[in-house]
Amino acid sequence: MATEIKEFDGAIDKGLEGIVACTTKISSIHDSTLLYRGYTIEDLAANSTFEEVVFLLWNDRLPNKNELEQLRSDLVKNMTLSNETVALMKALPAKNAVPMDYLRTVTSSLALQDPDTRSIEFEANMRKALRLTGVMGSIVAGLGRIREGKDIVKPDPSKSIAWNFMYMLKGEEPSAKTAKMFDTCLILHADHELNCSAFAARVTTSSLADMHAAVTSAIAALKGPLHGGANEQVMKMLLQIGTLEKAETFIADAIKDKAKVMGIGHRVYKNGDPRAKILRKMSEELCAMTNQKHFYEMSARIDDMMFEKKGLMPNVDFYSATVYYCMGIPIDLYTPIFAVSRVSGWIAHILEQYSQNRIYRPRGRYLGKTGLTLGR
Ligand code: ACO
Repeated sequence: MATEIKEFDGAIDKGLEGIVACTTKISSIHDSTLLYRGYTIEDLAANSTFEEVVFLLWNDRLPNKNELEQLRSDLVKNMTLSNETVALMKALPAKNAVPMDYLRTVTSSLALQDPDTRSIEFEANMRKALRLTGVMGSIVAGLGRIREGKDIVKPDPSKSIAWNFMYMLKGEEPSAKTAKMFDTCLILHADHELNCSAFAARVTTSSLADMHAAVTSAIAALKGPLHGGANEQVMKMLLQIGTLEKAETFIADAIKDKAKVMGIGHRVYKNGDPRAKILRKMSEELCAMTNQKHFYEMSARIDDMMFEKKGLMPNVDFYSATVYYCMGIPIDLYTPIFAVSRVSGWIAHILEQYSQNRIYRPRGRYLGKTGLTLGR
């Protein structure tokens, strides 16, 4: 006998709004407070490193000094691309590729050479976790270089993921300040409860598919402009607006036309995204440092207007756009950079899903035709 479908019509048509799909101990959002494993995002952003956060997300506790150094060194070791991966990356049509398509394809291909592909045992998963988290930044930086006809840069084993990402993308050592700020960006993007891409990763995992399959699903979900893709759209919008004077008319027109302003609004945060507050300060500082104050001023004006006119506030994508722009990162790499960090959170969700698995298999309320016959 088929199971009964409960009365959740509102939630069905509203993107499962308000529905709890699983229990989790990884991160929590309550009002405007975001916690990773019990620590506030403000505390982690100010006082930790991305590697520390990765350890925290995967192990439910902070590392000691040796554990942290071991993790940093393991992750950076895995930043070196294999000859097979470099050959594939060079063979793919990188020049005009949508970077998220490229990242998804290369990530998926890594399963073909991973010695643990066929195992979902815990130890095998931890090895894959290190490989995937280490390599993600190298694929993105590698794309940035290959499409410009430049050589791939090898990581410095003594440095962090954040430092190495900037180094491998640009081919020159980042300043300590840039590396630190980028590290903070990675911390801010690492996890976010049951967001669209983490949910995609968990759904794929729930069939007991492997980690590469689940991470590839998550990258696919992150691509869209309603999720991670919004940061690129924000920067394009600011460049299109051009000056502070034009920002007001642009936003007034968008509101009149009922067009969505990218980087604004959130399904869960109704009183502000705490990550956006931290990024706003970074954006102000970086725009001033790079003589591009107008980008911060335009952003702040849009932020104010959206709150005044619609009661909506910026999300993580809004100010990260100008932060990355001031760091000289190509706009179409903003969403792939999101994945460079979020892969750590996806993996935490994948591990948690394996540990408490039941396959996700909801029901669809059928509204189609019935009673038709072929009449043959
Ligand atoms: N600009 C203008 N109006 C907006 C915006 C926006 N950015 N966001 C929401 N609204 C309005 C909607 O038009 C709607 O108004 P209505 O009730 O008059 O029709 C109302 O606010 C509710 O919006 P929904 O889209 O139903 O909210 P939902 O919870 O489904 O979506 C989302 C949340 C996707 C973040 C939405 O606010 C949005 O599209 N924002 C822009 C895209 C974006 O920034 N995405 C990144 C999100 S953060 C992340 O994933 C990393």
